[in-house]
Amino acid sequence: MPRASDRTREARQSERGTIAGMTPVDARPAGPTSAAARGPAHDSAFLRACRREAVPHTPVWFMRQAGRALPEYRKLREGNEMLDACATPDLVTEITLQPVRRYGVDAAIFFSDIVVPLKAVGVDLDIVPGVGPVVAQPFRSAADLDRLPALTPADVPYITEAVRNLVAELGSTPLIGFAGAPFTLASYLVEGGPSKNHAATKALMYGDPALWQSLLDRLATITLAFLRVQVDAGASAVQLFDSWVGALPAADYRELVSPHSARVLAGVSDVPRIHFGVGTGELLHDMGQAGADVVGVDWRVPLSDAVRRIGPGRAVQGNLDPTLVFAPREVVARKVRETLIEGQAAEGHVFNLGHGVLPDTDPDALLHVVELVHAGLEGPAAEGG
Ligand code: CP3
Repeated sequence: MPRASDRTREARQSERGTIAGMTPVDARPAGPTSAAARGPAHDSAFLRACRREAVPHTPVWFMRQAGRALPEYRKLREGNEMLDACATPDLVTEITLQPVRRYGVDAAIFFSDIVVPLKAVGVDLDIVPGVGPVVAQPFRSAADLDRLPALTPADVPYITEAVRNLVAELGSTPLIGFAGAPFTLASYLVEGGPSKNHAATKALMYGDPALWQSLLDRLATITLAFLRVQVDAGASAVQLFDSWVGALPAADYRELVSPHSARVLAGVSDVPRIHFGVGTGELLHDMGQAGADVVGVDWRVPLSDAVRRIGPGRAVQGNLDPTLVFAPREVVARKVRETLIEGQAAEGHVFNLGHGVLPDTDPDALLHVVELVHAGLEGPAAEGG
């Protein structure tokens, strides 16, 4: 079998029975086909790549594209607390659109936060600038389960309104809805805030597996309801962020976490589902098996390796190191090119960073990445090395 890097995009697409840039006659299963997925964004490069269909160009968007790297974001946020902004549909709509206008990315990600549904069901928490989510009373015992009731659409009317506004504004550009996965949400609840080692979380998980399973079950119910609100309002894909699950070995992930994430993903099978975490090289296969259509890969694992670990039938997303955009332009061009070549090993590739945009990133550097990705391997802009 030829190495992925020896094969051109045309070669791969003709293997798939399609012609580059043309509407394909694709033999593979069609994939998710809900009303949402069939909207005006249905034939976008992003949704096509998620469904592992031929694409006119590799689609690209950035985790945390809406946020502090943009001066226009900082201006809008002046005087608005993060969680208040998340509950104000006009602000959510505008902030979500800002990076789409500036970068010409292939998808918008809904502006919100993984702790918004927890706040919506009544958990006392805040997002502290420069720190992250902080929970007033950390989760400690079975009695705390009562503080995690199910979420209903009536708890988050501002989400429905903002998604509807956005879908109307975005037209053929897809909107990605998102939520935090049960493990990552549990980590914030149990630790009370950001954590490096997740020691209290793991102590609960290993020390009281029955309570742990109940906690993750509650969180899966909330997360699924939050994703359903977004999909029912018109989001055409979702990303489940299990940012911190890379702290676990695969066997424990399979036993104590993945069934809950799988229940969430199964509940939104009418749209493409992206499943992402950081430092999850050892979990990639299981994260795909949990029910993802696209597996997000951080920058530590080359995409061709990731594809082997994940196995067939899934697309990949990633994985330029988010610090690389601080390097000279020719280095960025070379690394983007390498990532595109690596991505050819996959049945579908959505270009992204390996984690979120860092706050002091120069927006022009991200614009440069978008231009390079869109120019592709044949583009003059990609001749970086
Ligand atoms: O990607 C996007 O542009 C959409 C918006 C988005 C935010 N948070 C906005 C935000 C998304 C997808 C998230 C997800 C999120 N939130 C995750 C998973 C993604 C990841 O990075 O792994 C996690 C772990 C959180 C929890 C959280 N919220 C953190 C760690 C922080 C940063 C704290 C800080 O200030 O350094 C937040 C706050 C937050 N969420 C900000 C934004 C734009 C910054 C708040 C601000 O601008 O004041």
